[in-house]
Amino acid sequence: MQPVINNQIDNLKESATLFINQLALKLRSEGHNICHLGFGESPFPVPEPMRIALQENAYRKQYISGYGLPELRKAVAGFFESEFGYNYSFEKIFIGPGSKELIFQLVYLLEGPLMVPAPSWVSYGPQAKIRSKTFIPIPTERKNGYRLQAEELEKTCSGLSFPQKLLILNNPSNPTGSVHTPEELKDLAEVCRKHAIIVISDEIYALTNFGEQPFEGIAKYFPEGTITTSGVSKAFSAGGWRLGFAMIPDELAKIVPPLSAFVSETFSCVSAPIQYGALAGFENYDSVRKHVERCRDIHCAAGHFLHQRFTDIGLNCPKPQGAFYLFPDFENFKEKLSSRGITTSEKLSRRLLEETGVALLPGSDFYMPNDFLVVRVASVDYDGAQLLKDFPMKNKLTPEMFPNLFPKLADAAERIEKWLS
Ligand SMILES: Cc1ncc(COP(=O)(O)O)c(C=O)c1O
Repeated sequence: MQPVINNQIDNLKESATLFINQLALKLRSEGHNICHLGFGESPFPVPEPMRIALQENAYRKQYISGYGLPELRKAVAGFFESEFGYNYSFEKIFIGPGSKELIFQLVYLLEGPLMVPAPSWVSYGPQAKIRSKTFIPIPTERKNGYRLQAEELEKTCSGLSFPQKLLILNNPSNPTGSVHTPEELKDLAEVCRKHAIIVISDEIYALTNFGEQPFEGIAKYFPEGTITTSGVSKAFSAGGWRLGFAMIPDELAKIVPPLSAFVSETFSCVSAPIQYGALAGFENYDSVRKHVERCRDIHCAAGHFLHQRFTDIGLNCPKPQGAFYLFPDFENFKEKLSSRGITTSEKLSRRLLEETGVALLPGSDFYMPNDFLVVRVASVDYDGAQLLKDFPMKNKLTPEMFPNLFPKLADAAERIEKWLS
């Protein structure tokens, strides 16, 4: 008997980021010399107080309420208030198995089309597709660092008749590394208010902000309509722990009972020891702050190093201001690449992997037109544990040190340069 599969799922391909990770690791294990710029996994160890708390709580075996451990929800609310000035009450915070799952459940239960800036993270589109939801990538411009502008959102909304709309704003951004300015957020907030938009502010990289100014999220300017999501995957390097959260404002309290029911009928709760491990990070952030900031400084150096190399080579690339990604385009080499049969970002990334051993992702996976020759680069191919020991203090760091600190990144840039010449 042939199984009949739900059409929405049958046409889904495996998540591009997970696919490239498996492929690059397989090629490496077969002995190929791969520079893996395809997957955004933080390479550092989990902060020690969190690891210890996880070990000490391994005996906990009970189910926890679907909302999550009350102490953890309180700690998360307090952390986001003191770090970013948000005002979420802990009763409306959900702990889930990664923010990805919670974003999916929110996208599933909220009516209205889903808008995202183009480029945006690979999973939002497929999540909308599973729910047969109208998905609207809004084109942004390189000159603005691909940050969504209020006029672009306004233009899109004025053509839509839906009474409610959703916007996912990922800030700092995967794939571009850009961070919205407070002015941009204020302007976007006004448009959101005017057009009845519920914002899911995906702030999984909020603690990996390179700027001198503290990070600001749109919840500061549009508190009544912003659900903020984040988790332990990036700043705490604990992606495999699978713990994220969604914070719902009082004004959207109507979401809480159906989301609670949805959680109870699906994943039930996040594993208890993991919740206690995460608690050790948020409850006493000062015990891990230094570690998180040092990892951030290394991410910053890696991003700025690659940015400099890409610019030297002749690629167009906004300078990353956070997260661990860059979004360089090869438009200056369009003719040359076309003569080699490369006319799409998909072909560009495939040929780069085959001919140079550099793994990265095509811009088309991030909702960019396929003929725009842009790729997503993750700048984390290095030994994080070793670098935490070897990385010089900020005032001792000079650009000449970068190739030694990040040999795989230096190698990748060199291979791309040779391939283009
Ligand atoms: C933009 C963005 N949002 C969400 C996630 C998912 O994070 P989590 O591990 O909390 O599910 C990722 C992970 O790569 C991401 O890059």
